[in-house]
Amino acid sequence: MATVGLFDSGFGGLTVVREVKRQLPGVNVRFYGDNSRIPYGPLPKETIVRYTRQILDFLAGKNIDIAIIACNTATSASLEEVKDEYPFPVLGVIKPGIKGALAATRNNKIGVVATEFTIGSGAHKQGLKAANPKAEVIGQACPQITLLVEAGKTSGPEVEAAVSGYLKNFKGTGIDTLVLGCTHYPVLEDTIRNYVDQNVTIIDPAVETVAEAKEWLQKKGLVTDCVSPSYKFYTSGDPELFTQVGTIILGWPIDNVEKVVLG
Ligand code: DGL
Repeated sequence: MATVGLFDSGFGGLTVVREVKRQLPGVNVRFYGDNSRIPYGPLPKETIVRYTRQILDFLAGKNIDIAIIACNTATSASLEEVKDEYPFPVLGVIKPGIKGALAATRNNKIGVVATEFTIGSGAHKQGLKAANPKAEVIGQACPQITLLVEAGKTSGPEVEAAVSGYLKNFKGTGIDTLVLGCTHYPVLEDTIRNYVDQNVTIIDPAVETVAEAKEWLQKKGLVTDCVSPSYKFYTSGDPELFTQVGTIILGWPIDNVEKVVLG
């Protein structure tokens, strides 16, 4: 039975875990949330690369078949540097977001919301323009959204104010596609939808990311029907908070959360 390892700076990566359950219901999941060191968004590249290696080394000890960096910030900072250092494939979430956006856009005007690091890296912009030189890419960093989700705040006036404040910057740009370029943001997808024009297609890169993982696992003959896959969660933060917020994001109760501090 296949085992997928995933990590994020915090709870955001759980939006990828729930997609794993949807597309790959029979695989085991090992997830590491670096909740005590979040946010990664304001950190320098070298630090994010170091954290990525620490966490992938940890997941490598869990018998995983494939790893997903379920964090756009860590993907843009470190995927190219670390992807060949492990005996299993390491996937990121940036290229899948780009793929989803290219398939969805009709007018080539694409918005990207992400952390300050991801927007500053230009990863989405470069990838979109390389595939489609006509693409017009408008990026917006939304660091407050990460912090709200991380605190378990998924609705209410604070969330509305943060989301509307950031998304008003897309008014009048004509974008028809918006990439949720931080894995925390799909948690607030319904709220986000209320503050963009109705014709805007929202892209959650988790869908394409897990499709890519599924394709690889299928090729290797590792996708089997399994009645009870095991899910195991590790956090550098508070396991009780992880259990609470994790249950909200995943939509099913979790109880097997272990505290693991790396580095
Ligand atoms: N969830 C992370 C991402 O996809 C970032 C949050 C952060 O650590 O700043 O970029």
